[in-house]
Amino acid sequence: MKKLLIEGGNQLNGTIQISGAKNAALPIMANCLLTQEPVILEGIPQLADIKTMCEILNELGATTEWLSENELKICVTKEEKNTASYELVSKMRASICVLGPLLSKRKEAQVSLPGGCVIGTRPIDLHIKGLEKLGASITIENGFVNATADNLKGTKIFLGGQFGSSVLATGNILSAAVLAEGKTTINFAACEPEIEDLAKFLIACGADIEGTGTHRLVIRGVKELKGCRYKIIPDRIETGTFLAAAMATQGSLTLQGANLDHMDAVIETMISAGANISEEDNSIFIESKNGIKAVDFTALAYPGFPTDMQAQMMAVLTIAEGTSIVTEKIFPDRFMHASELSRMGANIKSETGKAIVVGVQKLSGAKVMASDLRASASLIIAGLAAKGTTELNRIYHLDRGYEKIEEKLNNAGARIQRVDA
Ligand code: EPZ
Repeated sequence: MKKLLIEGGNQLNGTIQISGAKNAALPIMANCLLTQEPVILEGIPQLADIKTMCEILNELGATTEWLSENELKICVTKEEKNTASYELVSKMRASICVLGPLLSKRKEAQVSLPGGCVIGTRPIDLHIKGLEKLGASITIENGFVNATADNLKGTKIFLGGQFGSSVLATGNILSAAVLAEGKTTINFAACEPEIEDLAKFLIACGADIEGTGTHRLVIRGVKELKGCRYKIIPDRIETGTFLAAAMATQGSLTLQGANLDHMDAVIETMISAGANISEEDNSIFIESKNGIKAVDFTALAYPGFPTDMQAQMMAVLTIAEGTSIVTEKIFPDRFMHASELSRMGANIKSETGKAIVVGVQKLSGAKVMASDLRASASLIIAGLAAKGTTELNRIYHLDRGYEKIEEKLNNAGARIQRVDA
């Protein structure tokens, strides 16, 4: 087991290269199950979750081969085993992404139920509702989702839930619809850039999809999909995390290979909090030298402020001048980081769906524990800004979603060491 030692008080200055988006890569990898032709994916980040998805695909009869550091070749060679095991699915919720592709291509799927999660309850009712509307029979037994479908048929599906649209449910229904007979319309589809990327990947494989990147997707089923070469979009959450780190240390960073178009809500919020942000040839430049101002924001579905950036922005606001109100509309219990930030001197009061952050002059380094991926990132940001050393434990969460994070930050002036816990 490893931990990070973060020496606070070092301003970030320099250039960081942004990796491919984890949350685009995972569903796209799962959708390689839809063809027996080879697919080559560029911009796949080297992460624990990506390794888990490779293992799941291997279990399901696909070979996975790294052609270079971020270029992955996936090819289905056998279509006999249709079960995604508990051992792998329990490591990563995104394993549910194989459900739609398996059902669509192999007519049956058994996927272990992903279970709960520290960021809140994570039901899959919308995934099931959509697949059943397409004609699948689904039962839940012994901790598995068992789905069969002799003939999926296009139909109209409303995919809104209690908390709005669902990213991975939209992905699963899209995967099932591309090979279904006839026309499927998904209303209230998630329009997150990662789902748009999945749709573009499927189109590159020969799928017929209209409305990519909108709340209404129209899919006309095709007989088969072919292989392709495809490049994953840059990671907007990694980009936002580094922007937040620059703000917290009052530094300046150039983020190469980032896409500002996916980040309106984050950029607006950061500008309101005092940062200067601009775009230069495929790079984002941030300079934050005049302190941090309190700002209220609400985590919402895209194009709103992403829930996956809520913890990192909260870390920045702990040292803002004034009081900020953070509202969380996607996962109302996603405030596990608040109590750890408080151990570093932050003044945060949270209740379901809302946190009030009263800015303090300075945080102080402490022993803290990461509860999930984005909480880990927020504690690093707080540690970079704090006085003294922060010891971050349970960093396996971090390795699930940030490629070479300490190397990237250290190259820009941070002092972070990975040591034995
Ligand atoms: C994706 O999860 C992301 N994961 C999450 O990123 C992200 O936080 C989330 O979308 C929201 O943006 C991946 O892309 C791999 P949802 P997903 O279904 O699709 C409710 C990270 O840190 N809901 O869009 O599982 C749900 O409870 C991770 O990288 C239902 O009610 O999230 C939530 O309130 C964590 N029924 C809301 O919808 C369902 O069937 C949105 O969740 C499904 C979801």
